[in-house]
Parts: sequence; structure tokens; C-alpha cells
Amino acid sequence: MFAESATHGRSIDGEVVIETRALVKRFGEREALRGVSFAAHRGELLAVIGPNGAGKTTLLSILAGIRPPDAGTVSRPPGEIGWIPQQAAFYRRLTVTENLRLFAHLEKVPDTDATVEEMLDQTGLADRRNDQVGTLSGGNQQRINIAIGLLARPRVLLLDEPSAGLDPRQRERLWEFVLGLAVAGTTVIFSTHNIAEAERYGQRLLVLADGEALFDGTSAELHAAVRESGARDFEQAFVAFLRDRGH
Ligand SMILES: Nc1ncnc2c1ncn2[C@@H]1O[C@H](COP(=O)(O)OP(=O)(O)O)[C@@H](O)[C@H]1O
Ligand SMILES: [Mg+2]
Repeated sequence: MFAESATHGRSIDGEVVIETRALVKRFGEREALRGVSFAAHRGELLAVIGPNGAGKTTLLSILAGIRPPDAGTVSRPPGEIGWIPQQAAFYRRLTVTENLRLFAHLEKVPDTDATVEEMLDQTGLADRRNDQVGTLSGGNQQRINIAIGLLARPRVLLLDEPSAGLDPRQRERLWEFVLGLAVAGTTVIFSTHNIAEAERYGQRLLVLADGEALFDGTSAELHAAVRESGARDFEQAFVAFLRDRGH
């Protein structure tokens, strides 16, 4: 169990693991990213936050190397990047172990057996190993989705709206697990449109709106930037912050 203070209090050793400069991505006339630059550090939890259509998935898929940008650069660490898309890639009719073995094979992971055992252990799914994935709860399915992304032991894990569709308890367990990965040194970049979740679990927040990075800093710094006298709460102040910047 990691307390909230454990994330926010943790210092980052400063080593930049993944970095982008002036990323641009267009889909026809539409500019999904308009010059986004940021850096993420070892063991850092970075929340990419913004309304639907802001460009979060586009940004993560470019970081993952699945899509090329139209302009700008990405510097990635050597080795694999873990990519956990919103739509899980696993096979519902196969068991947990069969899925992990299949993906380990596809990713040419050395020592499949040991790696699969480690993932079962790490994700707490060892006692579900022979269950068909389609019969598991949404929370456990999301763990398998993450375990698949972790098979190649990436230094960077990208999670696209990982808690969407989970109930509050599943969500809490998911975040405990993800925080543990970050504490162990993995750089975790996750997207969300939920400001409360971004604040709670992100050590740093990158705010995207209409493909533009409007803010990059801690949640305390965002509070300071967003402060508005008339707002009922932070979420409302945040909406006003976006509106004042034309979004
Ligand atoms: N494959 C695609 N083809 C055309 N437009 C796309 C495609 N993917 C994303 N877009 C557009 O790019 C913008 C950003 O989308 P996306 O990155 O999915 O945003 P988010 O994940 O923040 O909701 C949206 O306007 C979306 O409609
Ligand atoms: Mg998205």
C-alpha cells in the first residue's frame, strides 16, 4: 500500500528517460498535436490530462513508436517501451497464462517461463492463471493488459486511460500496483480526463487541450496557476483555466 504522500514526497533523480520536442501530428486538416515538448524522468509518474479529443492517445501512441509524428522529435531509452492501449489486446478465450505466453513469444522475450511467472506474481494473478481471461473482472483484465505491457521489462510504461471502466476499489488496487512500479524505477506516463485522478497519482501533470500543451508542472503549481476566486472547486477552476486560454 502506498500512501498518497509516498508518491508526491518521492524525489526524482533527474535522469531524463524519454523526451519530446515540438511534436506535431496531423490527421488531414486536423492538428492533433501542435508542438508538444516535455521530458519524463526515471521513476516518475506523469499524468497527461485533458478533455476528450485533446490529443492524449495520439501523444502516447507516438511515444510508443506506433505512429510517426509529422514534425518534431522523440528520444526514447534503449529497449522496449511498454504500451497499454485503452482497448486490450488479449484473447478472451485463452487463459491468463496462455495469453502471457503468447505475447511473450510475439515479443521474443527471453526465458518465457520465468518471465510469465514473474508477471503472474507481480500482478497478483497467480491464482487465476488457468482462468479464461474473458471470465475475469474488469480490474483483473486491466492487470493482464498491464502485465502484457510489462513482459519486455520496459523502462517506460505508457497507460492510456487505465482506470476507465473500473469501480473505485479496482481503481485503487490498480494505482497501488502502478505506484509500486514507479517506486521500483519505471517511468509511468498515463492519460486521464479525470483531474482528481491526475492530481492524486501524477507527480507531474501535463495539460493538453486541442493538441497544445498548456501546462507542465506539479499539482500544487497547477493549483496556483488555476486559482480563480469565483470557482466552486478545483475542477471548475480548471475548466475556467482552459476556457480562458481559448479551449
Ligand atoms: N486515426 C485518426 N484519424 C483521424 N483523426 C484522428 C485519429 N486519431 C485521432 N484523431 C483526432 O485527433 C484528435 C486527438 O485525438 P486523441 O489523441 O484520440 O484525443 P484524446 O485521446 O485526448 O481523446 C481528435 O480530434 C481526434 O478526432
Ligand atoms: Mg484517448
